[in-house]
Order: sequence, then structure tokens, then C-alpha cells
Amino acid sequence: MLQGTRVKNTIEEIYQKAVTALSTAANEEAVNQISVQYLGRKGYVTLFLRNISQLPPDERRFAGQRANEVKGLISSAITAAMERLAQDRGVDRIDVSLPGRTPEIGSFHPITQVMNTICEILGKMGFAVVEGPEVESDYYNFEALNIPENHPARAMHDTFYVSDSVVLRTHTSPTQPRVMEKQAPPVRIIAPGKVYRCDSDLTHTPMFHQVEGLLVDEGISFADLKGILTGFVHQMFDDQTTLRFRPSFFPFTEPSAEVDIRCVMCRGKGCRVCSHTGWLEVLGAGMVHPAVFENVGYDPLRYTGFAFGMGIERIAMLKYGIDDIRRYFDNDCRFLRQF
Ligand code: PHE
Repeated sequence: MLQGTRVKNTIEEIYQKAVTALSTAANEEAVNQISVQYLGRKGYVTLFLRNISQLPPDERRFAGQRANEVKGLISSAITAAMERLAQDRGVDRIDVSLPGRTPEIGSFHPITQVMNTICEILGKMGFAVVEGPEVESDYYNFEALNIPENHPARAMHDTFYVSDSVVLRTHTSPTQPRVMEKQAPPVRIIAPGKVYRCDSDLTHTPMFHQVEGLLVDEGISFADLKGILTGFVHQMFDDQTTLRFRPSFFPFTEPSAEVDIRCVMCRGKGCRVCSHTGWLEVLGAGMVHPAVFENVGYDPLRYTGFAFGMGIERIAMLKYGIDDIRRYFDNDCRFLRQF
């Protein structure tokens, strides 16, 4: 009887110790060790079973039965411990109530946004969008636009030369002769794109964007130009924004004008943005010069037309109140995210 109690205590003790060890096992490796320690070839349970023959005959049956039971129990406890550890690690545990990971969605660059708005407004007025090359021949950039070699107007352009006869276009105006060469009037196009000038400071970057406009037909007058530009400015800013046409000079338009709008910041009272003049220059424009028509084979006595060109960065600065043009090209996400 005493013997029986001792045997019983031994196997129960093994079982309890195994359970305790498993409950505090910190990882799968620890559980594997416990498995070897108790159920392995030299494990406590295995050795207990192997020594059963040395027990008094009347105890063997009970001891054998219980030891096999304990072996099964420990084995299940090991499986359970493994599952618990796997769950703690997050495997097989998906919390479906957690919010999903939101992908970061980008947005269009402010210049692209303003360019799109400009094209949309003028598109509704019947202008088709065309594009020309940024690497342009001297001919289209200057010659065809009535700016012959040695013309003083070339000095205004701060041209990047690729070779003697190839330049980075200094304005979008070369699209005018390119389009007119290929089609007969009427013409009603806009040409957005990049232009280049060797210039860099607070209000100039070596690359910037323009939108060119060109309308040619019979009987087109300066009044049409004023009407289109007024309609455009009212939609781009608001219909309280007044325009001013100032006489100016471009070799490819005659007469020529520079167009100012009432300062959008101070409404004309005078502020830093408009240098206390109350006005902001936004574009150059004029009636297409007869010499340009002749260069593309249009009859200047039959057709008239107007052209205009505006700087996108400038318009975007006014629309969003940005005071340094270089911000557009720093690619600082804190700046760009605001749009
Ligand atoms: N191309 C001129 C510039 O870059 C602008 C302009 C376009 C003027 C069309 C008149 C007509 O300044």
C-alpha cells in the first residue's frame, strides 16, 4: 500500500511538473524541450514506463495504465501550448474589426491642376489642345514668328541653345506656325507645355509652363480677343476680376498688348504682391502679325486672328497665394500635399 502510494505520487508529480512547465513556456523551443524531457527516449514518462517491471506485480497494472494516460495528457498539453504560442505571435489571429491600411493617394501637381483648369475653360470655348516639341528649331521659335537673326527681341529670350539652329523653346508660340502650316483656317487651338529660359530668381525658373492660344478666321478683331480673355479671367478667378490691356510689343503680333488683372490679393488697393500698383500682369497677346501669316501661306488680306500666351506658374501663384516660384519645383511634400 505504501509502495502503491509512492508510485502514484511519482507519476502524478511528473504530470503536474509537465503541466506547470508548459504553462510558463515562453516559446515553441521551450515546449519542444519539455516534450523531449518528458516524452523523449530518456524522458520521465518513458523511463517510468520502462521501469514498471521492477514494481511489485500488484502495482504494475495500475501504474502502467496511469502512466500511459499521463503520456497522452502531456502530449495534448504540448499541442495546446504550441497553439497558444502561435496565437500570441499573431498567426491565425486576424482582427476583422481593425481598420484597413489606407494606401497613400497622391494628387496632381498644382501646375498640372491649373494647366488642366485653363485647358478646360478654353476647351469649353471651342479651343482644341495641341502640343509642340520642347526641343525646337530656331526657325519655329524665332524666324517663323518674325524674329529674324540679330533681331533685338532675341535678347529678351535668354535662350538655351542645343546647337546653332536648335534651341529649347523659349515660349509656346512656335506651335502657332506649326499648326497653321498644317491646316487651313479656321484655327482655334491652345498649346500648353514646358518652356525654357536661362534665368533663375524669386520669380523665374529655367523651366516653366505656358499656354498658347491662337484663333484665326475671317473677320476676327481685337474685340474678339478681349471677349475671350475677359471670359477666361472671369472663370479662372472670379467675375469681379477686371482686366486692363496695356500697349506692348511682340514681333509676331500687331497690335500687341500685355494684359493685367486687378490684384487678386488686395483687389486694387495696392499691396506687396502687385508692387502697390493694384495690377498684376498675367499674359501677352495681340493680333497675329501679317508677316507670320505669310510665313505659313495664309492670305493676310483675307484672314485675321489673335494669339495670346500666359505663364502657368504666375497664374497658379495668384490663384493660391504662393510668393516664391521655386516652391513648385522643390518637391517638398509638405508644400505639395496642400493641393
Ligand atoms: N510668346 C510670348 C512670351 O513668351 C507671349 C505671347 C504669345 C505674346 C502670343 C503674344 C502672343 O512672352
